[in-house]
Amino acid sequence: MEKDTKYMSDIHLSEYLGPYMEKQTGVDSLIHAAGRKRELLNGMWQYAVDQYDTCLRQRWFEEKYMDEDGFTLPVDFSFDEWPQMQLPCNWNVVNERFFLYEGSMVFTRRFRCRREGTERVILRIGAVNYQCTVFVNGTYMGMHRGGSTPFCFDITDALKTDNRILIVADSTRRENQVPEKNTDWFNYGGVYRDIELLYVPKVYIRDFQVNLVPDQTYGTIQVKIVLSEKISAQAMIRIEELDIRQEVTVADGEGIFLVVANPVLWSPENPKLYKVEVCCGEDRVEERVGFREINVMQGEILLNGESIFLRGISCHEDSVDNGRALTEEEMTETILLAKKLGCNFMRLAHYPHSEKMARFADEMGILLWEEVPVYWAIRFESEQTYEDAENQLRELMRRDYNRASVIIWSVGNENADTDARLAFMSRLAQRAHKEGGNRLVSAACLVNSEKNIIEDRLADYLDVIGINEYCGWYTPDFEKLPNLLSGSHPDKPVIITEFGADALPGHHGTRMDKGTEECQAYVYERQLEELGKIDYVKGMTPWILYDFRCPRRTSFLQNYYNRKGLCGEDKKYRKMAFEILRDFYMTRPPSFS
Ligand code: GCU
Repeated sequence: MEKDTKYMSDIHLSEYLGPYMEKQTGVDSLIHAAGRKRELLNGMWQYAVDQYDTCLRQRWFEEKYMDEDGFTLPVDFSFDEWPQMQLPCNWNVVNERFFLYEGSMVFTRRFRCRREGTERVILRIGAVNYQCTVFVNGTYMGMHRGGSTPFCFDITDALKTDNRILIVADSTRRENQVPEKNTDWFNYGGVYRDIELLYVPKVYIRDFQVNLVPDQTYGTIQVKIVLSEKISAQAMIRIEELDIRQEVTVADGEGIFLVVANPVLWSPENPKLYKVEVCCGEDRVEERVGFREINVMQGEILLNGESIFLRGISCHEDSVDNGRALTEEEMTETILLAKKLGCNFMRLAHYPHSEKMARFADEMGILLWEEVPVYWAIRFESEQTYEDAENQLRELMRRDYNRASVIIWSVGNENADTDARLAFMSRLAQRAHKEGGNRLVSAACLVNSEKNIIEDRLADYLDVIGINEYCGWYTPDFEKLPNLLSGSHPDKPVIITEFGADALPGHHGTRMDKGTEECQAYVYERQLEELGKIDYVKGMTPWILYDFRCPRRTSFLQNYYNRKGLCGEDKKYRKMAFEILRDFYMTRPPSFS
């Protein structure tokens, strides 16, 4: 009986996650990835739907097929005989049986690795929604929480010649997570961004941050180098195109160095990028970097010293065919579509989109607002929830620090102005100011609807105030808009981060018929007419570029889609309002002051 009881003990375990929670990875595990020797583990992985988390309960990853006495054990898994799924992907859209599945799936594959000498091997996963536990050859590597940011594990010591990796991806929504259980977008699950091995020398460059010193001289580049060990070492900074080769000494594992230079400045109109290399010991990393400066001065938003109006649009990371696991072509098509709309700016809502999106934005010339999903009702009084939110923000900032296109970090969206929320989000804003580099800090705030004015205590911690207002839609009375705008006196630039209306593509009627293209077009006409008069509005990102999946939108016009897109979910069909916004942007000079 002892044996049976011992073996069957997992079924009595109500609290089985405890041991796994002790080894959580986060921003401190991240290492600089660009320009490194790497090997993709994308491809066919065996998988099983694991609704009851039996893998973690029974410890399948140990692959225990026999007991101490040599008796074969009846196991509930067979890794090599499982069906296969092509990773990265969101399981919801690769197999209709899994469309609405929320829970755990187990993915596993075998791999050999090309480690040479004393190299360290770092497993880097671009994103798993939401919670991820990783094992290599039966050894527990750690857990990551947060559905949209990369994370790393040093797997060197667990490696053999032939290896097995096993990932448990759990997409369950939970009250204490970020976002909480209730959102206005589809909860796609899975390992949905690149899975790769990075090969680094024993001592390597852990972090590498490059930006123009924001002192309005545009003549000094700052390079921060952080090594994996607290040692002193010589390093070389090289920017061939600027004829720069600068020897520096990294003391005690970290150094910040200034390089006098006169780069062509990056802008949407001229997205000039430079190859910046750093060599240190046996390691070498490189980045393609645009040099630009963004700041706020006397109510203006200045890019490279010039006031700018942010002609923007919001978008979700969403695709009919691929969920959030967009192809590179889908990403570039989205940016091109925004440019056809006359945009110089995009709000990547409401969570970190793929890092490739920011790289394409650097190359193609469009400014970005990036955001963490502190969305609607969050457990603002929970310290664990705060740590989750802050870790996601820090992982995002560390990931995209070198991206010229990213000019705004947003710490959240549409949260009621309570004391707990103020404490939580002002802390995030201060973290963004401290670690975010030369960027502005913002959030999409709510209007104070009782007073019908722009008023939010969080604004004191922001450089730019984002405001979501739906006059003409959720608040049907258009007259509230001019009163809202003329009655508000914000002391810093405002970006109208959301306005809009639903319209089913091809559905027509009068402008009073909600759900028609005519109604959406009329909302845009009236909104733009009022917003165009307001000097403190220095940008806008109307909601939204294209329709997107949304489980809480069930009307016959919506059919489980949010229909506020200016395009249909195919990103091809353009509704009438597309041209109205385009005309507004095209007839306004970039400064639009
Ligand atoms: C809110 C929210 C969006 C949502 C939109 C809508 O402002 O920020 O995430 O999709 O309104 O109601 O369509």
